[in-house]
Amino acid sequence: MTIDIRKVTVLGTGVLGSQIAFQSAFRGFDVTAYDISDDALEAARTRFDGLAQTYRKEVEGAGDGKAERAGASITLSSDLAQAVSDADLVIEAVPEVLSIKQDTYEKIGKAAPERTIFATNSSTLLPSAMKDFTGRPDRFLALHFANRVWQFNTAEVMGTPDTDPKVYQAVVDFASAIGMVPIEIHREKAGYVLNSLLVPLLNAGMALSAGGYAEPDAVDKTWRIATGAPMGPFQILDIIGLTTPYNILVNSEDPNGPKLAEWLKTNYIDKGKLGIASGEGFYKYPA
Ligand SMILES: NC(=O)c1ccc[n+]([C@@H]2O[C@H](COP(=O)([O-])OP(=O)(O)OC[C@H]3O[C@@H](n4cnc5c(N)ncnc54)[C@H](O)[C@@H]3O)[C@@H](O)[C@H]2O)c1
Repeated sequence: MTIDIRKVTVLGTGVLGSQIAFQSAFRGFDVTAYDISDDALEAARTRFDGLAQTYRKEVEGAGDGKAERAGASITLSSDLAQAVSDADLVIEAVPEVLSIKQDTYEKIGKAAPERTIFATNSSTLLPSAMKDFTGRPDRFLALHFANRVWQFNTAEVMGTPDTDPKVYQAVVDFASAIGMVPIEIHREKAGYVLNSLLVPLLNAGMALSAGGYAEPDAVDKTWRIATGAPMGPFQILDIIGLTTPYNILVNSEDPNGPKLAEWLKTNYIDKGKLGIASGEGFYKYPA
């Protein structure tokens, strides 16, 4: 029997949850978005209005009121049990705190129908750490989006050894149906594909400059010219913003991590150079 996904519930309407809900609604799915309080839901409405404006400017076919209609079609709820009560797929985008996620899965495991598939958008936690709390490990996996889902449209799909292959395939198909490029990962891997490649590249770039071997501009120029890549590691770091890489380095097992974190902090973060968002990082961004 094929698994039909029509009704999607997104848990958490923060940065990523709001984008996932909006993109799914924009692509014609029946979407409910849950957050913990009425205040959080009010913030969600504001996020959806902002996304409608962005889509109008950046996404083909979002004119003629289509983006606004997508936002308006999303049902908002602060009642967790009710939000998942008729979902085919629940995409969880609550804070990156294991206990919050486990607690959420315990609750929805009891409240959702047996057919409902659960997917976590967690960036750093493995689905195995949550599966036993879902009450349905065969219908649980990770579906990981990148920030700005309408533009950077990879969706990394990663199951646990317990995930039913039919469930996995249904989620791959769903990812395509909402305009993502599904990336199938066959075994659990911290960092998925993207961060397994990107984090070592960024760290290697920083080690070159922090070690006094080459300036950020020279590192980027080398990477661009010699590989044909459009951006070097420091340009990418400025887009991400320097706080997230700093936090990753502080907690990293890389023996170089603390030294690189200190270098980032002293030379950039403490001087307010946080990347594009603050107008300056490794490069200057005149308004
Ligand atoms: N921000 C990114 O670039 C990014 C990219 C990919 C994946 N992710 C992942 O998506 C998830 C959400 O990240 P985000 O950046 O959207 O976070 P965020 O802090 O912007 O949003 C989290 C939302 O969850 C809500 N929430 C729901 N249940 C909650 C509970 N029980 N307790 C507290 N808050 C609750 C919060 O009110 C908030 O609106 C994380 O797992 C993160 O790893 C984030």
